[in-house]
Amino acid sequence: MSKRILFLSGSTRKDSYNTLLAKAACKIASQKGIDAEFIDLAEYPMPLFNQDIEAESGAPETAKLLKEHFRNADGFFIASPEYNSTITPILKNTIDWLSRPYEKDEPRLVCFDNKAAAICATSPGGLGGLRALDPLRLLLSHINVNVVGQQLAIPSAHEAFDANGDLKSEMHNAIMSSIVDTLARIA
Ligand SMILES: Cc1cc2nc3c(=O)[nH]c(=O)nc-3n(C[C@H](O)[C@H](O)[C@H](O)COP(=O)(O)O)c2cc1C
Repeated sequence: MSKRILFLSGSTRKDSYNTLLAKAACKIASQKGIDAEFIDLAEYPMPLFNQDIEAESGAPETAKLLKEHFRNADGFFIASPEYNSTITPILKNTIDWLSRPYEKDEPRLVCFDNKAAAICATSPGGLGGLRALDPLRLLLSHINVNVVGQQLAIPSAHEAFDANGDLKSEMHNAIMSSIVDTLARIA
């Protein structure tokens, strides 16, 4: 049975380069016959996590909905911007809400435990968002996600994509194809 992989961007900016990257990876996966879906975090707005909100009102419906998508997936691909050398608030906030149990007797970290993930980044800067990937890898590892060793950080994001949103560089496409293959294999 084909593995189900969700593709996410850590940016909800309308012209986000990381959204382009997640969509380009999603397209590569679809062309390989993988059950791949791009998830737009803008469609799942959540308040900044606060345990008082959680205690008083429970999880927002958007978090419950997204958690169900994650539960039903075998793996995730995350394209993360680098904000001040780490991941974006929206990505951290989403992971925080999804890491919480919403039902009685729910297994711990039910939508992350033993799932697979691949992580990539792009930035207009020279390091391509590379410094966001170590904290993201560490965070995912500590919530029991198996993170693909190979990763890709693409500098000069504003020059990396063609008019269709595909990666221009053959080398970038080859690395992305290899990352997607590994993700589907270990998922
Ligand atoms: C608060 C903030 C911090 C940033 N810090 C970094 C950084 O540490 N390294 C970097 O390469 N770019 C940094 N940038 C620039 C982003 O890489 C750039 O805005 C990028 O386009 C964001 O990703 P997106 O296009 O997917 O939204 C920062 C941008 C913001 C708004």
